Amino acid sequence: MSETKLFHDVLRERHSVRSFLPDPVPEEVIRSVLEDAQLAPSNCNTQPWQMHIVSGTKRDALSKAMLADDDVGRYTMDFSFSTSDFDGVYKQRSKDQGAAYYNAIGVAREASEDRRTAARLNLSFFGAPHAAFLFMPSVGDNVRVAGDLGMYGQTFLLSLTAHGLGGIPQTMLGYHADTVRDVLGIDPALKLLFGISFGYPNTTHAANKYRIGKAPLEETVTFHH
Ligand SMILES: Cc1cc2nc3c(=O)[nH]c(=O)nc-3n(C[C@H](O)[C@H](O)[C@H](O)COP(=O)(O)O)c2cc1C
Repeated sequence: MSETKLFHDVLRERHSVRSFLPDPVPEEVIRSVLEDAQLAPSNCNTQPWQMHIVSGTKRDALSKAMLADDDVGRYTMDFSFSTSDFDGVYKQRSKDQGAAYYNAIGVAREASEDRRTAARLNLSFFGAPHAAFLFMPSVGDNVRVAGDLGMYGQTFLLSLTAHGLGGIPQTMLGYHADTVRDVLGIDPALKLLFGISFGYPNTTHAANKYRIGKAPLEETVTFHH
């Protein structure tokens, strides 16, 4: 099989995994994924990502601390985020994604308590044995650095898939930046953009059985000659 075909398969296989098996990933496999991610491009090769990976008791303690934050409505985000900021086609795609997910896991639109329970699964890493927190230095208006972390994050996610693993990028893990810094002893100068829960996908879980569609090129690409 040619490398092009393999890449084609990996790209199409990757999806956001929202249920994991509890089995830990061997450290050499995690290191191999990290070596791949390290090849990502960045502005002036600055490589501004700082990854903090939690497993075992540290993972459990951090999940507990974030759930306790959520219980009392304590959110400490370094970067703002609200789905109500989306407009037009972006708002529609966001709504379609939410509807497809809740439909897949059997949660009705009006079942607000069930939706809250489902949303809180973010904070227990959807059962994943590992979570990576992507921190960055604050530089200018931060947009370029955040772009670099996006490049890194997608390379990490594709490498997970290539290694038979799965992951999900999570802005929701960034809602607890102060707590993550406190629990892990991270310099307050480093800002938390998002997290990635990862491990072996639970392929039999309903959350992993749906795939969200993507817009046709006509909606996102304009050719100029
Ligand atoms: C930066 C980023 C943050 C995200 N944050 C969350 C999140 O907090 N919770 C969640 O369930 N999904 C989150 N997602 C996953 C998106 O919903 C998902 O990527 C999108 O619906 C497309 O689906 P796919 O990844 O399966 O292609 C995030 C994705 C990205 C790229």
